[in-house]
Amino acid sequence: MKIPILDLRAQYKTIKKDINDAIKTVISETSFIGGIHVAELEKNIALFCGTKYAVALNSGTDALYLALWALGIGKGDEVITSPFSFFATAEVIAKLGAKPVFVDIDPATFNINPHLIESAITKKTKAIIPVHLFGLAAEMNLINKIAKKYNLFVIEDACQAIGATYNGKKAGNLGDIGAFSFFPSKNLGAYGDGGIATTNNEELAIKMRMLRNHGSKIKYYNDVIGVSSRLDGLQAAILNVKLPHLTKWNKLRNKVAITYNKHLKNISWIKTPEVNPNHVFHQYTVRITNGMRDEVRKYLAVKGIQTMVYYPNPLHLLKALSYLRYKKGAFPEAEKACEEVLSLPIYPELSQKSILLVKKAISSCVYK
Ligand SMILES: Cc1ncc(COP(=O)(O)O)c(C=O)c1O
Repeated sequence: MKIPILDLRAQYKTIKKDINDAIKTVISETSFIGGIHVAELEKNIALFCGTKYAVALNSGTDALYLALWALGIGKGDEVITSPFSFFATAEVIAKLGAKPVFVDIDPATFNINPHLIESAITKKTKAIIPVHLFGLAAEMNLINKIAKKYNLFVIEDACQAIGATYNGKKAGNLGDIGAFSFFPSKNLGAYGDGGIATTNNEELAIKMRMLRNHGSKIKYYNDVIGVSSRLDGLQAAILNVKLPHLTKWNKLRNKVAITYNKHLKNISWIKTPEVNPNHVFHQYTVRITNGMRDEVRKYLAVKGIQTMVYYPNPLHLLKALSYLRYKKGAFPEAEKACEEVLSLPIYPELSQKSILLVKKAISSCVYK
């Protein structure tokens, strides 16, 4: 039996009729770009996150990009973020001409270590981008406190964390702007690319709406330079069908994590993540602490179990950012995480039987 890291077909089967009907409706209405489904999604996501506004975009990358852009971040500015994330988090900072400044992670959570942020702040620092990695919100109380003290913006990279909560508030409602991805593998995934930015600030919402549409509020009246970053109607309609299921799906992911932890807790060379109900487990990521992560991964692949390494490289050592002149050893916790992490299969429909098979394969692993 093969166990994939993610099974989107299993999810589709449970909502097939509603999805197919939604797609047919969009096609019969020809509401392909913008239109009621996109407007409805913006309303639904804002309601879900508890924010006043949501601006639908064509990716999570653009949600981060337009967030920074709308905040006026650009050349000469510095933005603090985590070196243990998907490349887009730092890429958008650099794309705007600003400098990504990394701060090491907390090894227990994989998120930016808030206690190290203050020492990275300079006169040029304009914003912090905490990443809610794998579906766990970063330490937002402390991050927001520091941001307030130094007058910095906070942009949540919530691309992996839709539905995650922190002190009773949803991710996306914990900073100035929240950025979400609807990449198909995400907890709320479209059937193509998509993203959304959330905010309580009307001015920022208006700016992002303009930027996504060639800098115009009114068609053919372009006030500023922008981009084309619209979410299409088909994706919005699909997401509107899926959103009412999200809380249930996130709970099921959390349950999978609890079961994994129970099964893996006595394996000495595996360190399991902490589980709490606020964590939406976009990934279930363990550490392989015996120095043989890649061998373990290959062994599991032979047994039919698909795993992934998120991420094999810390951002500060990637070629594209070599101009920043970070050296190996600059962020030891992020570097160590890149050597040890292994993400196991997780999705809401993953059966107890499959989890047990993963456990059995791990227990039989010869690389211990
Ligand atoms: C942490 C993080 N940031 C940003 C992104 C970018 O999102 P997208 O792929 O929708 O552009 C992703 C998605 O992979 C992500 O996981």
